[in-house]
Amino acid sequence: MPSPTPGGTDDPAIDELRDAHDVLAEFYAERLAGALEASPLDRSVLDLFATLVVGSGLGVAVADVGCGTGRLEPYLASRGLEPRGVDLSPGMIAVARRDQPGFSFEQGDLRALRFADASLPGVVCWYSLMYLTPADRPGAFAELARVVRPGGHLVTAWKLGDDQVRRGGRTTGLGIEFDVWWHSTPEVEDRLERAGFETLFWAGRPPADGEDSPSGYLVGRRR
Ligand SMILES: C[S@@+](CC[C@H](N)C(=O)[O-])C[C@H]1O[C@@H](n2cnc3c(N)ncnc32)[C@H](O)[C@@H]1O
Repeated sequence: MPSPTPGGTDDPAIDELRDAHDVLAEFYAERLAGALEASPLDRSVLDLFATLVVGSGLGVAVADVGCGTGRLEPYLASRGLEPRGVDLSPGMIAVARRDQPGFSFEQGDLRALRFADASLPGVVCWYSLMYLTPADRPGAFAELARVVRPGGHLVTAWKLGDDQVRRGGRTTGLGIEFDVWWHSTPEVEDRLERAGFETLFWAGRPPADGEDSPSGYLVGRRR
């Protein structure tokens, strides 16, 4: 199991989140192994995104922001995309590099991405936008809009809920905690619309076996 990252930022909540995900990296690698293969609904949403990106003619390079263990990368590649992963947690990046050796992964914060303006035809945010404080959300969504080309696409999945803050991580038994928000679809849609994405599709599904919440999905296009 990777150790928590030494040092810290000037934001205790981000330090807590990053350190928790360092600890969670191996747990996620085991727990989520095969999850995408077992979820035709998740694959269908990613298929829609891939079809739109490929069909846009803007290119096929996409960022998987909050990529975790990199489990989506082989599937995205199988749909004709060229994904590269970014994650806040060095522990997650280490596991992603180990488990998905054919792909590029780097540590980074979605609130300040290292991609140039309008440089990406697509961005994937799969269960990774649920940790942003209300104060951080406008800037973070604007950052996603900054890096996606006009006409490019974004896909996101999240835990569907009431927009109230919760303490995540406790049920893992790993001694970690962090703030997480289970979002309503209007919250996600409004944030993305205000940042410059028009909604093309949204959906939801009940919890699958072993999950603690319903899931929401949205595909948007950069205006
Ligand atoms: C629930 S995991 C999902 C990982 C992956 N997308 C998947 O579906 O397996 C959420 C991930 O988002 C990352 N994350 C949270 N906040 C982030 C931020 N501000 N910048 C980059 N990554 C972040 C976490 O480190 C964690 O790996």
